[in-house]
Amino acid sequence: MATRIEKVGVVGCGLMGSGIAEVCARQGFQTTVCELDPTILERGMASIRRSLDKAVTRGKLDASTKDEVLGRLRGTAELASLADCQVVIEAIVEDRVAKQALFGELSTLCPKETIFASNTSSLSITELAAATDRPARLVGLHFFNPVPVMPLVELVRGVATSDNVLEIMRSFGEALGKVVITAQDAPGFVVNRLLIPFLLDAVRALEQGVASREDIDQGMKLGCGHPMGPLTLLDFVGLDTTYSIAQIMFEEFKDPRYAAPPLLKRLVLAGFHGRKSGRGFYEYDADGGVK
Ligand code: CAA
Ligand code: NAD
Repeated sequence: MATRIEKVGVVGCGLMGSGIAEVCARQGFQTTVCELDPTILERGMASIRRSLDKAVTRGKLDASTKDEVLGRLRGTAELASLADCQVVIEAIVEDRVAKQALFGELSTLCPKETIFASNTSSLSITELAAATDRPARLVGLHFFNPVPVMPLVELVRGVATSDNVLEIMRSFGEALGKVVITAQDAPGFVVNRLLIPFLLDAVRALEQGVASREDIDQGMKLGCGHPMGPLTLLDFVGLDTTYSIAQIMFEEFKDPRYAAPPLLKRLVLAGFHGRKSGRGFYEYDADGGVK
């Protein structure tokens, strides 16, 4: 293992990219997060500041450490600003073409030693790696939402990923304070392979009039001890993102358990993307509370 990681780049400052950038900066890495949309970049940076303020209020972080964390964090619209990072973590939209184009561009900007990681929920790591000039140096590093809270990261090995890079990234995941589990490059890895059919079944139950959205959610919260009901969790993850994940997994497995229910598709087409857009299965106020 020769790579010493000091500087980390994150691409995408949406729900996941902002959380990943926060955790990297909190754990001592110089972190640069690149987001094309300036409004989203500002929103993502503001959500990081809010999360750090909350940690200070709850006595989990002292004020001077918060300032140090913010000092390690930089937002940019220029991908070239990530050229001096030892690791670049991609957290853009769940779209094969967009991610491949990004990794192609990163290949031209970053030295050949730079390790690339994708936070994809469902795309093939091997396929993303094939769009780079360094397939041995790309892994899946799948975080969970909300990143500062969820303790897990899935480390995914593509067909071409080298043993050395896998070990460097396992240590990196641990340095971020996460428990690392390893998965092969199978659709949805471990967690989404099991979680996505469950979430889609909740939509089918609603579609078929089995119960109201509230009762479906209460059922799984109070009956099975889930922290959130499945429809609330879908809104939390993003209906657009879940729809893309379902499409990708259905394309791979051809198993109807992964087929997106028509209701999910229609909500996405209507622009109801969940909590981040103010409306999904529920409606939300500006603070993310259910109206
Ligand atoms: N950022 C930082 N901290 C947050 C946070 C966020 N976005 N949301 C909550 N927290 C913190 C709170 O500050 C609080 O901290 P303290 O313990 O210091 O008080 C703690 O988390 C608990 O929060 P709350 O008391 O406000 O609310 P809660 O008890 O209902 O917990 C939750 C919130 C952690 C989100 C919980 O509801 C939960 O675990 N939900 C399920 C989340 C889940 O399943 N995530 C996985 C989604 S699937 C995925 O990510 C993979 C994919 O590819 C789609
Ligand atoms: P999101 O829509 O909140 O954020 C994606 C961001 O990427 C957007 O802000 C968009 O402007 C930006 N973007 C798109 N193309 C870009 C580019 N070329 N350069 C820079 N920025 C670009 O989505 P999200 O929920 O954060 O999901 C991001 C990734 O993480 C997806 O692959 C998703 O499957 C995965 N993921 C999501 C969750 C979740 O719960 N939402 C959990 C784990 C993994």
